[in-house]
Amino acid sequence: PLELERLRMLPKAEVHLHLEGAFEPAVLAQWAQEAGVPMPRPVEHLLDFQGLADFLHFLDWACGLASTSERLAELSHGLSKRLAASGVGYADVIVNPTHWHAWDGRLKAMLDAIDAGFSAAEREGFTPVGLCVSLLRTQSADDAVQLVNALIELAHPRVVALSIDGNEAAAGRTGPRFVEAFRRAGAAGLKRTVHAGESSGPEGVRDAIELLGADRIDHGVRAIEDPGVVRLLVERGIPLGICPTSNILLGVCPSIERHPIERLRQAGVRVSINTDDPVLLGTTLEKEYALCRSAFGWSDDVLRAVARTSIEASFAGEVVKDRLR
Ligand code: ADE
Ligand code: ZN
Repeated sequence: PLELERLRMLPKAEVHLHLEGAFEPAVLAQWAQEAGVPMPRPVEHLLDFQGLADFLHFLDWACGLASTSERLAELSHGLSKRLAASGVGYADVIVNPTHWHAWDGRLKAMLDAIDAGFSAAEREGFTPVGLCVSLLRTQSADDAVQLVNALIELAHPRVVALSIDGNEAAAGRTGPRFVEAFRRAGAAGLKRTVHAGESSGPEGVRDAIELLGADRIDHGVRAIEDPGVVRLLVERGIPLGICPTSNILLGVCPSIERHPIERLRQAGVRVSINTDDPVLLGTTLEKEYALCRSAFGWSDDVLRAVARTSIEASFAGEVVKDRLR
């Protein structure tokens, strides 16, 4: 419809989505068959996720099938093309090496393969991408520091940030465990983005800011439960990368009407709209904008302001940002 076309034209970035979320179910089914690996459930129910833990478990299975450079490059190329179709002028894409079991101990080869797909896509005029390499909430402090050391040593030109994702609820309050990893990343000039306030409460958002030095929070929606944390976000101007459909499908929020994005925005928090795992969750960025517009009655001015926040909150360089503004 016309509405979605208009939303595609809106100048915007996407700052919260995962390469792990870009698999096409039909492709996964074919790779599984070729490898003789059983499907976790029948293909017609492949994407019926039972919350975040089940979803993360599924990612381990899916990423395990991406065993060649060609498959990785095809995935990243396809994602950039998809982003361009939604009118995304720049994207920060998260990749978490712990899910990609075929690449254990081969970080450089893995990043090079992903980079090859994004570079080809960018040459073809699709969306430019910065990579945010992610730690997993449930990994050890030593493993985390080791990954960061490897990233710093590699200094891969595609990598713009350190991220952390996964299940924050599985191991209690885990901020302190990752202080050293994030400190090293920040000192080496990497940006820092932190999944918090999704499977943790507002205390996870506070820790992301005060302990991990987050430049941006992924989700952060449960900050709404603590006015002090909302105030902290406003005072520091720290943007949230919010993913409405993801929060509903993975059981963080009961419905779009009750989603905190509007209350956070009205409180003065910088919010952007994102897809998290677009293909696996069956959404597109323009659909996410349309969902918020209809649930909260957003005017064109509000939509433009939220889209503008996505550009400012992104880790794009100033040249790219200027082109989008
Ligand atoms: N990895 C991919 N999507 C995620 C999410 N929504 N939360 C935590 N880790 C993720
Ligand atoms: Zn995410």
